[in-house]
Amino acid sequence: MVETHTENTTPATADSAAAERPLGVAVIGAGMAGAAHAAAWRSATTVKAPFGRDVRLVAIADIAEPLAQSVAGRYGYERTVSDWRELCDADDVDIVSVVVANKLHREIVEALVQAGKHVLCEKPLSDSLEDARAMAQTARAAESVVRIGFTFRRAPGLATLRQLITDGTLGEVVHINGRYYADYSCDPDAPMTWRYRGEQGSGSLADLGSHMLYAAEFLAGPIRAVAGGRFRTVIAERHLPLRATVGHGKVALSDETETVTNDDWAGFIAEFDDASGTFETSRIAHGHPNGLRFEVNCVKGAAVWDQATPDEVRIYHDDASGRASWGNGFRTIKLGAEHPYVADGFAMAAPGIGFGHNDSFVFQARAFLEEVTQEAEDTTWPVNASFDEGLRNMEIIEAVAESARQNGSLVTVS
Ligand SMILES: NC(=O)c1ccc[n+]([C@@H]2O[C@H](COP(=O)([O-])OP(=O)(O)OC[C@H]3O[C@@H](n4cnc5c(N)ncnc54)[C@H](O)[C@@H]3O)[C@@H](O)[C@H]2O)c1
Repeated sequence: MVETHTENTTPATADSAAAERPLGVAVIGAGMAGAAHAAAWRSATTVKAPFGRDVRLVAIADIAEPLAQSVAGRYGYERTVSDWRELCDADDVDIVSVVVANKLHREIVEALVQAGKHVLCEKPLSDSLEDARAMAQTARAAESVVRIGFTFRRAPGLATLRQLITDGTLGEVVHINGRYYADYSCDPDAPMTWRYRGEQGSGSLADLGSHMLYAAEFLAGPIRAVAGGRFRTVIAERHLPLRATVGHGKVALSDETETVTNDDWAGFIAEFDDASGTFETSRIAHGHPNGLRFEVNCVKGAAVWDQATPDEVRIYHDDASGRASWGNGFRTIKLGAEHPYVADGFAMAAPGIGFGHNDSFVFQARAFLEEVTQEAEDTTWPVNASFDEGLRNMEIIEAVAESARQNGSLVTVS
Protein backbone atom coordinates (compact mmCIF):
# COMPACT_ATOMS: atom_id res chain seq x y z
CA MET A 1 0.00 0.00 0.00
CA VAL A 2 1.33 3.46 -0.87
CA GLU A 3 0.72 6.32 1.51
CA THR A 4 1.02 9.92 0.54
CA HIS A 5 -0.10 11.52 3.83
CA THR A 6 2.10 14.13 5.42
CA GLU A 7 1.91 13.65 9.17
CA ASN A 8 5.15 12.75 10.86
CA THR A 9 5.09 9.08 11.80
CA THR A 10 8.71 8.98 12.93
CA PRO A 11 9.03 6.65 15.92
CA ALA A 12 10.89 7.51 19.09
CA THR A 13 13.79 5.10 19.23
CA ALA A 14 12.54 1.52 19.62
CA ASP A 15 13.50 -0.86 16.81
CA SER A 16 10.09 -2.53 16.94
CA ALA A 17 8.38 0.82 16.37
CA ALA A 18 10.72 1.48 13.44
CA ALA A 19 9.76 -1.88 11.96
CA GLU A 20 6.06 -0.97 12.11
CA ARG A 21 6.10 2.50 10.61
CA PRO A 22 5.90 3.06 6.84
CA LEU A 23 9.06 2.78 4.78
CA GLY A 24 9.87 6.27 3.51
CA VAL A 25 11.20 6.53 -0.05
CA ALA A 26 13.10 9.36 -1.76
CA VAL A 27 14.61 9.76 -5.23
CA ILE A 28 17.67 11.90 -5.95
CA GLY A 29 17.56 13.12 -9.55
CA ALA A 30 14.30 13.94 -11.29
CA GLY A 31 15.59 13.50 -14.84
CA MET A 32 14.80 10.76 -17.33
CA ALA A 33 15.57 7.72 -15.16
CA GLY A 34 14.69 9.56 -11.92
CA ALA A 35 11.09 9.81 -13.10
CA ALA A 36 11.11 6.06 -13.81
CA HIS A 37 12.29 5.38 -10.24
CA ALA A 38 9.72 7.78 -8.79
CA ALA A 39 6.95 6.03 -10.71
CA ALA A 40 8.29 2.59 -9.83
CA TRP A 41 8.23 3.11 -6.05
CA ARG A 42 4.62 4.18 -6.39
CA SER A 43 3.64 0.97 -8.16
CA ALA A 44 5.99 -1.45 -6.40
CA THR A 45 3.50 -2.42 -3.74
CA THR A 46 0.81 -3.15 -6.33
CA VAL A 47 2.63 -6.00 -8.06
CA LYS A 48 2.55 -9.49 -6.53
CA ALA A 49 0.76 -10.23 -3.28
CA PRO A 50 0.09 -7.30 -0.92
CA PHE A 51 3.33 -5.93 0.50
CA GLY A 52 3.67 -6.31 4.27
CA ARG A 53 4.64 -2.71 5.10
CA ASP A 54 3.20 0.61 4.14
CA VAL A 55 5.39 2.61 1.78
CA ARG A 56 5.41 6.39 1.99
CA LEU A 57 6.52 8.49 -0.99
CA VAL A 58 8.46 11.18 0.85
CA ALA A 59 10.78 13.29 -1.30
CA ILE A 60 12.22 14.09 -4.71
CA ALA A 61 15.60 15.84 -4.69
CA ASP A 62 16.93 17.78 -7.67
CA ILE A 63 18.92 20.98 -8.09
CA ALA A 64 16.38 21.88 -10.78
CA GLU A 65 13.45 22.70 -8.46
CA PRO A 66 10.71 22.92 -11.12
CA LEU A 67 11.69 19.47 -12.35
CA ALA A 68 11.61 18.04 -8.83
CA GLN A 69 8.19 19.59 -8.26
CA SER A 70 6.86 18.25 -11.52
CA VAL A 71 7.96 14.67 -10.75
CA ALA A 72 6.85 14.89 -7.11
CA GLY A 73 3.46 16.20 -8.16
CA ARG A 74 2.97 13.64 -10.87
CA TYR A 75 3.78 10.63 -8.71
CA GLY A 76 2.51 11.87 -5.34
CA TYR A 77 5.65 12.58 -3.32
CA GLU A 78 5.17 14.74 -0.24
CA ARG A 79 7.99 17.24 -0.67
CA THR A 80 10.92 18.31 -2.79
CA VAL A 81 14.42 19.28 -1.72
CA SER A 82 17.14 20.98 -3.73
CA ASP A 83 20.00 19.67 -1.59
CA TRP A 84 20.11 15.86 -1.38
CA ARG A 85 22.09 16.12 1.90
CA GLU A 86 18.84 16.96 3.69
CA LEU A 87 17.73 13.39 3.04
CA CYS A 88 20.62 11.97 5.06
CA ASP A 89 19.22 13.61 8.20
CA ALA A 90 15.57 12.95 7.40
CA ASP A 91 14.09 10.46 9.87
CA ASP A 92 11.17 9.78 7.56
CA VAL A 93 13.43 8.57 4.70
CA ASP A 94 14.60 4.93 4.74
CA ILE A 95 15.18 4.11 1.06
CA VAL A 96 16.83 6.33 -1.56
CA SER A 97 17.24 5.92 -5.32
CA VAL A 98 20.37 7.68 -6.62
CA VAL A 99 19.60 8.68 -10.22
CA VAL A 100 22.02 11.43 -11.19
CA ALA A 101 25.09 11.70 -13.44
CA ASN A 102 27.53 8.83 -12.87
CA LYS A 103 30.31 11.04 -11.47
CA LEU A 104 28.00 12.12 -8.61
CA HIS A 105 27.12 8.59 -7.49
CA ARG A 106 30.01 8.00 -5.09
CA GLU A 107 29.65 11.06 -2.86
CA ILE A 108 25.90 10.67 -2.57
CA VAL A 109 25.91 6.90 -2.00
CA GLU A 110 28.62 7.11 0.65
CA ALA A 111 26.80 9.83 2.57
CA LEU A 112 23.49 7.94 2.42
CA VAL A 113 25.00 4.63 3.54
CA GLN A 114 26.82 6.44 6.34
CA ALA A 115 23.43 7.81 7.43
CA GLY A 116 22.02 4.25 7.48
CA LYS A 117 19.79 4.58 4.42
CA HIS A 118 18.99 1.71 2.03
CA VAL A 119 20.33 2.72 -1.40
CA LEU A 120 19.41 1.75 -4.96
CA CYS A 121 22.01 3.39 -7.23
CA GLU A 122 21.72 3.66 -11.00
CA LYS A 123 24.23 2.09 -13.39
CA PRO A 124 27.10 2.33 -14.18
CA LEU A 125 28.37 2.34 -10.61
CA SER A 126 30.47 5.44 -11.24
CA ASP A 127 32.53 7.22 -13.87
CA SER A 128 35.85 5.90 -12.56
CA LEU A 129 37.18 2.55 -11.45
CA GLU A 130 38.71 4.11 -8.37
CA ASP A 131 35.34 5.45 -7.20
CA ALA A 132 33.64 2.16 -8.08
CA ARG A 133 36.13 0.24 -5.91
CA ALA A 134 35.50 2.57 -2.99
CA MET A 135 31.74 2.27 -3.44
CA ALA A 136 31.89 -1.54 -3.50
CA GLN A 137 33.85 -1.42 -0.24
CA THR A 138 31.22 0.91 1.25
CA ALA A 139 28.46 -1.51 0.23
CA ARG A 140 30.29 -4.53 1.69
CA ALA A 141 30.55 -2.79 5.05
CA ALA A 142 26.99 -1.42 5.00
CA GLU A 143 24.30 -2.57 7.40
CA SER A 144 21.60 -1.38 5.01
CA VAL A 145 20.60 -2.81 1.61
CA VAL A 146 22.81 -1.32 -1.13
CA ARG A 147 22.10 -2.33 -4.75
CA ILE A 148 22.67 -1.22 -8.34
CA GLY A 149 19.90 -0.95 -10.93
CA PHE A 150 20.70 -3.26 -13.82
CA THR A 151 17.10 -3.46 -14.94
CA PHE A 152 17.35 -5.76 -17.94
CA ARG A 153 17.49 -9.16 -16.24
CA ARG A 154 13.83 -8.62 -15.43
CA ALA A 155 12.89 -8.60 -19.13
CA PRO A 156 10.97 -11.88 -19.64
CA GLY A 157 12.75 -12.84 -22.87
CA LEU A 158 16.23 -12.39 -21.49
CA ALA A 159 15.48 -14.42 -18.37
CA THR A 160 13.92 -17.12 -20.53
CA LEU A 161 17.01 -17.29 -22.74
CA ARG A 162 19.15 -17.86 -19.68
CA GLN A 163 16.81 -20.59 -18.54
CA LEU A 164 17.01 -22.34 -21.93
CA ILE A 165 20.81 -22.19 -21.73
CA THR A 166 21.19 -23.33 -18.12
CA ASP A 167 18.53 -26.07 -18.18
CA GLY A 168 20.25 -27.68 -21.20
CA THR A 169 17.49 -27.04 -23.76
CA LEU A 170 19.88 -25.03 -25.91
CA GLY A 171 22.97 -26.03 -23.95
CA GLU A 172 26.08 -24.00 -23.40
CA VAL A 173 26.74 -20.87 -25.42
CA VAL A 174 29.36 -21.33 -28.14
CA HIS A 175 29.33 -17.80 -29.48
CA ILE A 176 27.32 -14.71 -28.68
CA ASN A 177 26.73 -11.40 -30.39
CA GLY A 178 25.47 -8.47 -28.37
CA ARG A 179 24.81 -4.93 -29.42
CA TYR A 180 23.17 -1.97 -27.80
CA TYR A 181 22.25 0.58 -30.44
CA ALA A 182 20.64 3.86 -29.54
CA ASP A 183 20.00 6.96 -31.60
CA TYR A 184 19.91 9.62 -28.90
CA SER A 185 23.13 11.26 -30.12
CA CYS A 186 22.47 11.13 -33.86
CA ASP A 187 21.30 14.73 -33.88
CA PRO A 188 24.29 17.12 -33.85
CA ASP A 189 21.98 19.60 -32.08
CA ALA A 190 21.44 17.32 -29.10
CA PRO A 191 22.92 19.45 -26.29
CA MET A 192 26.20 18.89 -24.45
CA THR A 193 25.45 17.07 -21.17
CA TRP A 194 27.30 14.99 -18.58
CA ARG A 195 26.98 11.98 -20.92
CA TYR A 196 29.55 13.44 -23.34
CA ARG A 197 32.27 14.18 -20.76
CA GLY A 198 34.93 11.76 -19.55
CA GLU A 199 37.49 9.28 -20.82
CA GLN A 200 36.97 7.03 -23.83
CA GLY A 201 34.78 4.18 -22.58
CA SER A 202 32.64 6.43 -20.39
CA GLY A 203 30.36 7.27 -23.33
CA SER A 204 28.21 4.72 -25.15
CA LEU A 205 30.17 1.84 -23.60
CA ALA A 206 29.44 2.87 -20.00
CA ASP A 207 25.97 4.25 -20.65
CA LEU A 208 24.63 1.42 -22.82
CA GLY A 209 27.37 -1.19 -22.58
CA SER A 210 27.06 -1.47 -18.79
CA HIS A 211 23.58 -2.96 -19.31
CA MET A 212 24.80 -5.05 -22.26
CA LEU A 213 27.75 -6.53 -20.35
CA TYR A 214 25.68 -7.40 -17.30
CA ALA A 215 23.13 -9.16 -19.50
CA ALA A 216 25.85 -10.88 -21.59
CA GLU A 217 27.39 -12.45 -18.47
CA PHE A 218 23.88 -13.51 -17.38
CA LEU A 219 23.65 -15.52 -20.62
CA ALA A 220 27.18 -16.79 -21.25
CA GLY A 221 28.93 -16.64 -17.87
CA PRO A 222 31.93 -14.58 -16.77
CA ILE A 223 33.98 -12.66 -19.32
CA ARG A 224 37.63 -13.64 -18.87
CA ALA A 225 39.30 -11.36 -21.41
CA VAL A 226 38.53 -8.72 -24.01
CA ALA A 227 40.32 -7.77 -27.22
CA GLY A 228 39.91 -5.56 -30.25
CA GLY A 229 38.77 -2.58 -28.20
CA ARG A 230 37.89 0.35 -30.48
CA PHE A 231 36.16 3.67 -29.88
CA ARG A 232 34.85 6.31 -32.27
CA THR A 233 33.67 9.81 -31.51
CA VAL A 234 31.75 10.96 -34.55
CA ILE A 235 30.19 14.25 -33.44
CA ALA A 236 33.21 15.95 -31.90
CA GLU A 237 31.63 19.20 -30.64
CA ARG A 238 28.26 19.88 -29.06
CA HIS A 239 26.54 23.13 -28.14
CA LEU A 240 25.99 23.88 -24.46
CA PRO A 241 22.33 23.96 -23.39
CA LEU A 242 20.75 27.25 -22.33
CA ARG A 243 18.66 25.55 -19.63
CA ALA A 244 18.42 22.32 -17.63
CA THR A 245 18.32 19.15 -19.70
CA VAL A 246 16.43 15.91 -19.08
CA GLY A 247 17.84 12.68 -20.46
CA HIS A 248 18.42 13.01 -24.19
CA GLY A 249 15.90 15.79 -24.71
CA LYS A 250 16.57 18.85 -26.87
CA VAL A 251 16.65 22.38 -25.45
CA ALA A 252 17.63 25.83 -26.75
CA LEU A 253 21.38 25.95 -27.42
CA SER A 254 24.14 28.43 -26.71
CA ASP A 255 26.58 29.42 -29.45
CA GLU A 256 29.31 28.07 -27.21
CA THR A 257 30.45 24.52 -27.88
CA GLU A 258 32.37 21.92 -25.89
CA THR A 259 34.44 19.00 -27.16
CA VAL A 260 32.95 15.52 -26.78
CA THR A 261 35.68 13.48 -25.10
CA ASN A 262 34.15 10.02 -24.97
CA ASP A 263 32.86 7.35 -27.33
CA ASP A 264 29.82 7.59 -29.60
CA TRP A 265 30.58 4.03 -30.68
CA ALA A 266 32.52 1.17 -29.08
CA GLY A 267 33.38 -2.32 -30.33
CA PHE A 268 35.23 -5.29 -28.82
CA ILE A 269 35.59 -9.06 -28.68
CA ALA A 270 35.08 -10.98 -25.42
CA GLU A 271 36.31 -14.40 -24.32
CA PHE A 272 34.15 -16.37 -21.87
CA ASP A 273 35.12 -19.74 -20.31
CA ASP A 274 33.56 -21.73 -23.16
CA ALA A 275 32.34 -19.08 -25.58
CA SER A 276 33.51 -16.12 -27.62
CA GLY A 277 31.56 -13.00 -28.35
CA THR A 278 31.45 -9.84 -30.44
CA PHE A 279 29.94 -6.67 -29.02
CA GLU A 280 29.08 -3.14 -30.08
CA THR A 281 27.51 -0.12 -28.45
CA SER A 282 26.40 2.99 -30.30
CA ARG A 283 24.51 6.13 -29.37
CA ILE A 284 24.56 7.25 -33.02
CA ALA A 285 22.67 4.30 -34.56
CA HIS A 286 19.90 5.79 -36.67
CA GLY A 287 16.48 4.28 -36.20
CA HIS A 288 17.29 2.46 -32.96
CA PRO A 289 15.73 4.33 -30.04
CA ASN A 290 16.60 1.59 -27.52
CA GLY A 291 18.11 -1.41 -29.26
CA LEU A 292 19.72 -3.94 -26.95
CA ARG A 293 19.87 -7.27 -28.80
CA PHE A 294 21.57 -10.63 -28.29
CA GLU A 295 21.98 -13.64 -30.55
CA VAL A 296 23.35 -16.75 -28.85
CA ASN A 297 24.61 -19.78 -30.69
CA CYS A 298 24.58 -22.79 -28.40
CA VAL A 299 25.50 -26.47 -28.69
CA LYS A 300 21.92 -27.55 -29.53
CA GLY A 301 20.47 -24.47 -31.19
CA ALA A 302 20.36 -20.71 -31.20
CA ALA A 303 18.20 -17.89 -29.91
CA VAL A 304 17.64 -14.17 -30.34
CA TRP A 305 16.30 -11.61 -27.88
CA ASP A 306 15.65 -7.99 -28.78
CA GLN A 307 14.66 -5.21 -26.39
CA ALA A 308 12.24 -3.93 -29.03
CA THR A 309 10.10 -6.99 -28.22
CA PRO A 310 11.17 -7.81 -24.66
CA ASP A 311 8.52 -10.46 -24.03
CA GLU A 312 9.52 -12.45 -27.10
CA VAL A 313 12.33 -14.85 -27.99
CA ARG A 314 13.22 -16.37 -31.33
CA ILE A 315 14.51 -19.89 -30.98
CA TYR A 316 16.06 -22.41 -33.34
CA HIS A 317 16.41 -25.94 -31.98
CA ASP A 318 18.24 -28.73 -33.80
CA ASP A 319 15.65 -31.31 -32.74
CA ALA A 320 12.57 -29.34 -33.75
CA SER A 321 12.08 -31.18 -37.02
CA GLY A 322 15.42 -32.48 -38.11
CA ARG A 323 18.69 -30.63 -38.47
CA ALA A 324 18.68 -30.32 -42.27
CA SER A 325 14.95 -30.19 -42.79
CA TRP A 326 13.30 -27.32 -44.65
CA GLY A 327 10.74 -27.55 -41.86
CA ASN A 328 13.07 -26.20 -39.23
CA GLY A 329 14.00 -22.59 -38.62
CA PHE A 330 13.79 -19.81 -36.08
CA ARG A 331 10.38 -19.64 -34.46
CA THR A 332 9.04 -16.71 -32.48
CA ILE A 333 7.74 -17.48 -29.03
CA LYS A 334 5.50 -14.95 -27.28
CA LEU A 335 6.16 -15.33 -23.57
CA GLY A 336 3.68 -15.38 -20.77
CA ALA A 337 3.95 -13.67 -17.43
CA GLU A 338 5.63 -16.61 -15.68
CA HIS A 339 9.31 -16.47 -15.02
CA PRO A 340 11.44 -15.94 -11.94
CA TYR A 341 11.99 -12.23 -12.39
CA VAL A 342 8.37 -11.15 -12.75
CA ALA A 343 6.21 -14.18 -11.85
CA ASP A 344 2.84 -13.15 -10.39
CA GLY A 345 3.71 -9.50 -11.04
CA PHE A 346 1.21 -8.56 -13.72
CA ALA A 347 -2.33 -7.40 -13.01
CA MET A 348 -3.44 -9.21 -16.15
CA ALA A 349 -1.31 -12.32 -15.91
CA ALA A 350 -1.89 -13.70 -19.40
CA PRO A 351 0.48 -14.45 -22.30
CA GLY A 352 0.87 -11.69 -24.84
CA ILE A 353 0.00 -8.78 -22.58
CA GLY A 354 3.32 -7.09 -23.30
CA PHE A 355 6.09 -5.82 -21.12
CA GLY A 356 8.00 -2.56 -21.22
CA HIS A 357 11.16 -1.09 -19.79
CA ASN A 358 9.14 0.89 -17.23
CA ASP A 359 7.84 -2.42 -15.84
CA SER A 360 11.44 -3.45 -15.11
CA PHE A 361 11.82 -0.47 -12.78
CA VAL A 362 8.68 -1.48 -10.89
CA PHE A 363 9.79 -5.09 -10.44
CA GLN A 364 13.26 -3.89 -9.48
CA ALA A 365 11.74 -1.61 -6.81
CA ARG A 366 9.55 -4.42 -5.47
CA ALA A 367 12.55 -6.78 -5.21
CA PHE A 368 14.39 -4.03 -3.34
CA LEU A 369 11.50 -3.52 -0.88
CA GLU A 370 11.34 -7.26 -0.25
CA GLU A 371 15.04 -7.35 0.49
CA VAL A 372 14.67 -4.45 2.94
CA THR A 373 11.89 -6.23 4.81
CA GLN A 374 13.72 -9.58 4.55
CA GLU A 375 10.91 -11.49 2.91
CA ALA A 376 11.27 -15.25 3.01
CA GLU A 377 13.61 -16.28 0.18
CA ASP A 378 11.14 -18.70 -1.41
CA THR A 379 8.51 -15.98 -1.84
CA THR A 380 10.71 -13.24 -3.33
CA TRP A 381 11.98 -12.41 -6.77
CA PRO A 382 15.75 -12.57 -7.32
CA VAL A 383 17.45 -9.64 -5.60
CA ASN A 384 18.94 -6.72 -7.52
CA ALA A 385 22.63 -6.67 -8.43
CA SER A 386 25.28 -5.98 -5.80
CA PHE A 387 27.88 -3.22 -5.93
CA ASP A 388 30.51 -5.96 -6.36
CA GLU A 389 28.72 -6.87 -9.59
CA GLY A 390 28.67 -3.17 -10.47
CA LEU A 391 32.41 -3.01 -9.85
CA ARG A 392 33.04 -6.07 -12.01
CA ASN A 393 31.00 -4.43 -14.76
CA MET A 394 33.24 -1.34 -14.52
CA GLU A 395 36.35 -3.54 -14.62
CA ILE A 396 35.24 -5.02 -17.94
CA ILE A 397 34.56 -1.52 -19.31
CA GLU A 398 38.03 -0.48 -18.19
CA ALA A 399 39.53 -3.62 -19.81
CA VAL A 400 37.92 -2.63 -23.13
CA ALA A 401 39.37 0.88 -22.74
CA GLU A 402 42.79 -0.61 -21.99
CA SER A 403 42.53 -2.86 -25.06
CA ALA A 404 41.75 0.23 -27.15
CA ARG A 405 44.73 2.08 -25.68
CA GLN A 406 46.89 -0.94 -26.59
CA ASN A 407 45.60 -0.90 -30.17
CA GLY A 408 43.28 -3.86 -29.65
CA SER A 409 45.48 -6.16 -27.52
CA LEU A 410 43.98 -8.94 -25.40
CA VAL A 411 43.37 -7.71 -21.84
CA THR A 412 42.40 -10.15 -19.11
CA VAL A 413 39.55 -9.42 -16.71
CA SER A 414 40.09 -10.49 -13.12
N1 LIG B 1 18.42 1.84 -15.99
C1 LIG B 1 18.16 2.57 -17.05
O1 LIG B 1 17.48 2.11 -17.98
C2 LIG B 1 18.68 3.98 -17.14
C3 LIG B 1 18.20 4.83 -18.14
C4 LIG B 1 18.70 6.14 -18.19
C5 LIG B 1 19.64 6.57 -17.26
N2 LIG B 1 20.10 5.71 -16.31
C6 LIG B 1 21.09 6.16 -15.33
O2 LIG B 1 20.44 7.08 -14.44
C7 LIG B 1 21.34 8.12 -14.08
C8 LIG B 1 20.74 9.46 -14.48
O3 LIG B 1 20.54 9.48 -15.88
P1 LIG B 1 19.37 10.39 -16.53
O4 LIG B 1 19.32 10.06 -17.95
O5 LIG B 1 18.15 10.30 -15.72
O6 LIG B 1 20.06 11.83 -16.35
P2 LIG B 1 19.37 13.25 -16.52
O7 LIG B 1 20.42 14.16 -16.99
O8 LIG B 1 18.08 13.13 -17.28
O9 LIG B 1 18.93 13.61 -15.03
C9 LIG B 1 19.88 13.88 -14.02
C10 LIG B 1 19.20 14.79 -13.02
O10 LIG B 1 20.10 15.01 -11.93
C11 LIG B 1 19.93 16.34 -11.51
N3 LIG B 1 21.08 16.73 -10.70
C12 LIG B 1 22.31 17.13 -11.12
N4 LIG B 1 23.09 17.39 -10.06
C13 LIG B 1 22.34 17.13 -8.95
C14 LIG B 1 22.59 17.22 -7.56
N5 LIG B 1 23.77 17.60 -7.08
N6 LIG B 1 21.59 16.89 -6.70
C15 LIG B 1 20.38 16.51 -7.17
N7 LIG B 1 20.08 16.40 -8.50
C16 LIG B 1 21.06 16.71 -9.36
C17 LIG B 1 19.77 17.14 -12.79
O11 LIG B 1 19.18 18.39 -12.55
C18 LIG B 1 18.88 16.18 -13.60
O12 LIG B 1 17.51 16.47 -13.42
C19 LIG B 1 22.67 7.79 -14.76
O13 LIG B 1 23.49 7.09 -13.86
C20 LIG B 1 22.25 6.91 -15.92
O14 LIG B 1 23.28 6.04 -16.34
C21 LIG B 1 19.62 4.44 -16.23
